[in-house]
Amino acid sequence: MARIIAGVTSSHVPAIGAAIDNHRQAEPYWQRVFRGFERSKEWIAKVKPDVCIVVYNDHASAFSVEMIPTFALGTATEFPIADEGWGPRPVPVVKGDPELASHIAQSVILDEFDLTLCNKMEVDHGLTVPLNLMFGSPKEWPCPIIPLAVNVVQFPPPTGNRCFNLGKAIRKAVESYPKDLKVVVFGTGGMSHQISGQRAGLINSKFDHAFLDNLTRNPKKLTKLSHLELMREAGAEGVEMVMWLIMRGALDDKVDEVYRFYTVPASNTAVGHIILENRIKGAKKALAKSGKPASKKPAPKLKRAAARAKVDRIRS
Ligand code: DHB
Ligand code: FE
Repeated sequence: MARIIAGVTSSHVPAIGAAIDNHRQAEPYWQRVFRGFERSKEWIAKVKPDVCIVVYNDHASAFSVEMIPTFALGTATEFPIADEGWGPRPVPVVKGDPELASHIAQSVILDEFDLTLCNKMEVDHGLTVPLNLMFGSPKEWPCPIIPLAVNVVQFPPPTGNRCFNLGKAIRKAVESYPKDLKVVVFGTGGMSHQISGQRAGLINSKFDHAFLDNLTRNPKKLTKLSHLELMREAGAEGVEMVMWLIMRGALDDKVDEVYRFYTVPASNTAVGHIILENRIKGAKKALAKSGKPASKKPAPKLKRAAARAKVDRIRS
């Protein structure tokens, strides 16, 4: 069966994409940001997901203000890169997994989550920047990507609780898919930031660190935050963090935090990045079901990852 093995949160700040496209990664300002993802790139190269589900938000690229789906799942074979005003970003076209995406659609919709299905959709920096941060700039993305676009730009976005429960439904869908696939879920956006209005420039690091702590250990607490509380504490655009709860809902209740990085600022935004792995017991069960030999000891890769949890908590 397919299995969700880990979740990742990542910023999607457009200026990060511009820094990559204009070869400015070595500048001290950007080096500080990209350095925080070096270990993550190593991690994902070792984990080698077969598919990634990327929860992100569209910025009036695929959808205009005329049409704003709350949850839009990409079921296409490929997703062209959107032109956001400067031509499409020079990154590989995003290839989907229409078979798994359709399976998720069937399972999740019959579980009473009304997704919009997109058989044709362009993807913007909200999706491509997190891919760059995790995979670098390859010629082709290393695995199929299933985009899940969430409305966080037009009030009202979905509640954190709804997002968390959607994550659970996605997990159920993935686990009922017969192919043996390792799936990683990305939650993107955040952390605290406000781009316009009187509080433009707002950053609340205390809130961000507490959010990261709770994301790992007590995500239920985060599902109780209202939009108003999120926006008061983390700024108007901080509400993007509801998307992280879809990722978290798709994981086990108890997870191993194998990596954390936090830095301020990138453009207007506090960058928060975390990698959470489902526990070894679950991974062993998946290995056993897939017919591959399951030793009594944890798989070395996973054991190492669990050990890294103690040392890899980088904060700046
Ligand atoms: C910025 C951050 C965002 O999350 C976004 O969607 C757009 C801009 C910024 O920091 O500039
Ligand atoms: Fe954003």
